[in-house]
Amino acid sequence: MTNRVPLIAGNWKMNLDHQQGIALVQKLAWTLKDANHETKDGEVVVFPGFTSLRSIQTLIDADKLEIGLGAQDLSQHDAGAFTGEISGAALKKLDVQYVLIGHSERRTYHHEDDAIVQAKTAAAFRHGIVPVICVGETLEELETQGQSAVPVRQTLAALADHEKLGEFVIAYEPVWAIGTGKVATAEEAAQVAAKIREAIAAEHGEDLAQATRILYGGSVKAANVAGFLRSPEVDGVLVGGASLDVEEFSGIARFKKHIAL
Ligand code: PGA
Repeated sequence: MTNRVPLIAGNWKMNLDHQQGIALVQKLAWTLKDANHETKDGEVVVFPGFTSLRSIQTLIDADKLEIGLGAQDLSQHDAGAFTGEISGAALKKLDVQYVLIGHSERRTYHHEDDAIVQAKTAAAFRHGIVPVICVGETLEELETQGQSAVPVRQTLAALADHEKLGEFVIAYEPVWAIGTGKVATAEEAAQVAAKIREAIAAEHGEDLAQATRILYGGSVKAANVAGFLRSPEVDGVLVGGASLDVEEFSGIARFKKHIAL
């Protein structure tokens, strides 16, 4: 049995201004409260754009909402002449608890390779922010290298060469399933999660592997979430499009109800 608390992460990507973000978080909090949602059944975290973080932090803090705050990226550097970048220290000051690293859109459009992902992971550790390290294969890689080779390699690369590993989360997101409506089957997601966990255990020890949450992401919706989370290997979901719709996202957070059905 595992005591890993499921993580329900909403990646808003480049959507919503700070006012729309506030409205969404308020509505999300009410909906979850009405449904008697408890954090032990699923830790709900939103990942707004940078310009919304301060407003949402203030709202969460003032109303004592049971919603966590994450950022979508951070700089590998701590300070200095890096125009347009955001430091881990600045995020920490806004009570940011989690940060996405190496999302496939960053890897593709911003050419972030394994070395950059490793350096950003190190920056998150330095600033006491939990990195949510995104890994996943393209369709071509799936066909040529099989299902788990790329996600395992990317995971180990992100975790290599740290003085000390802090808490981290891995999000397995097959690139061909992101925003496409195509989903991996629950079995595929569970198999890859198991391979990633095995690789972490082999490289960094069984205790760390057992403590690490491994999420699935890619076209997750309220209607398909239960399939993924029924497997003890999958410890949560990283949700893009559906996290912008309060009904959908709160339905995803309440996945246990679907599993019980
Ligand atoms: P999607 O995005 O849920 O819209 O497929 C997932 C993600 O990119 O994290």
